[in-house]
Amino acid sequence: MEQPPRWALGYHQSRWSYYPESRVRRLADTFRQEKVPADTLWLDIDYQDEFKPFTWSAERFPDPAKLVSDLRAQGFRTVVIVDPHPTKEPGYRIFDEGVAGDHFVKNPDGTLYEGPVWPINAPNKPGNSVFPDFTRPATRAWWGQQYRMFTDIGIAGIWNDMNEPSVWFQPQNSMALDARHDHDGQPTNHAEVHNIYGMQMTRSTFEGLTALKPNERPFVLTRATFAGGQRYAWVWTGDNRAEWASLQQSIPMLLNFGLSGFPYIGADVGGFSGFPSGELFTRWLQAALFSPFFRGHTEQATPDQEPWSFGPPYTAINKSTVELRYRLLPHLYTVVEEASRTGLPVMRPLMLEYPEDPQTHGRGDQFLVGTDLLVAPVLTEAQTARDVYFPTGEWIDFHTGARVEGGKTHKVDAPLHRLPIFVRAGSIIAMQPVVQHTGEMAAQPIVFRAFPDAQGRATGTLYDDDGESMAYRDGAFLRQRATLRSVRGSACVALETVEGDTGASPRERRFEDVQGQPLPAC
Ligand code: GLC
Repeated sequence: MEQPPRWALGYHQSRWSYYPESRVRRLADTFRQEKVPADTLWLDIDYQDEFKPFTWSAERFPDPAKLVSDLRAQGFRTVVIVDPHPTKEPGYRIFDEGVAGDHFVKNPDGTLYEGPVWPINAPNKPGNSVFPDFTRPATRAWWGQQYRMFTDIGIAGIWNDMNEPSVWFQPQNSMALDARHDHDGQPTNHAEVHNIYGMQMTRSTFEGLTALKPNERPFVLTRATFAGGQRYAWVWTGDNRAEWASLQQSIPMLLNFGLSGFPYIGADVGGFSGFPSGELFTRWLQAALFSPFFRGHTEQATPDQEPWSFGPPYTAINKSTVELRYRLLPHLYTVVEEASRTGLPVMRPLMLEYPEDPQTHGRGDQFLVGTDLLVAPVLTEAQTARDVYFPTGEWIDFHTGARVEGGKTHKVDAPLHRLPIFVRAGSIIAMQPVVQHTGEMAAQPIVFRAFPDAQGRATGTLYDDDGESMAYRDGAFLRQRATLRSVRGSACVALETVEGDTGASPRERRFEDVQGQPLPAC
């Protein structure tokens, strides 16, 4: 995978759907007024004209370019949804161009394959949809170029949904198995390419965005994908429910995704269908704090589901949860870079790092982030303590600095405001002060916090670069190692460059101990 843009690791706010424009602006203002950090606002299907891909509703979003640039000035990126189902409607540019370019999937008799998806619900011109044949190179290129209308106005990312593909009221809710595809010049039927259709759509999107903005890291989210699809898109787990059981399932789902080669993943925070209690939302936000993809999302017509929507005590707790995500971003970015280079997941089942310890096998309710953080979210209602298994070695409570002996299960405190996080003794974690969005990071120091082992040793690495351009490929990045040392009896931290260029990471460095007290540089 390419290293993703840094803003994609911030908090994302979505729902089906924020509209009209005034509501989106109010949402942005509320984030900044409430001082809940966030980087990205999402526009779901209702921004479009009659659910047609590559259109804007002129009534709901009269001036999208102005909206996107005003949001950008407030530190927000905008992502829009684009589904693979143009309406079959002569006069609609995408349909006309697609017919002229032979871009749509066909029936065995050579006629256009069509079926109902969102456009069948269009208020004025309901109609069936046709489907681009993303297994055809020319079609991938054609569709990929369409994103120009979004990149031209500063849209930062694309959300590809319904790309299984979803076709309603059909067997398996998908495309007829005898529909015809090009299959990269080896024509075949849908049965053969069904599993790769969604991935080929994201390939089209990723390659299109790359061609349109060669020096920007593309951001694509998808619902459907296949082995290899991690090169093109982040993935979320689809339509979950606002229920504790769904929160519980999200952890093994994300861990399995990671083991399957997809490190950039997440689940809808709060649950998509239904409406969570304040407690469930708060616990879900905590459990998702280390999902690379950290997005609140909910279905149509549910009440507001933002971090402040549940009143006290939840609002303050949710704010500090998102703040903690931002404080840990330098470390998370480092683990994310490791994933891009090695394929190792960000969220790891304990057994990946401790395979020889049978106690770590099959644990789906706690996980590691990289090698140094152990996270044990509360996944059950009304629980304020839980059992945590600590792999061999020594661990340090991130919140209190207390030491915990590994190789055992301990009961740990988890009041509503606390996500239990433990740090592997002997590590150094790169952190930063709270910022409201990733654009504010450059002005803040990187703070290395040392969690020494029993011998007083600690070391950790940091990966950093400009966070958005491709310059890292040409060496504009820094990999740095921090080591806790003792010089004439007092502790200090030494920094050394492992790889890259210090000029690629000009932020000030500070150091602190387990309690957050300053330590000097050696
Ligand atoms: C699908 C997606 C969901 C989205 C909805 C409307 O159900 O999974 O996330 O909000 O479609 O686009």
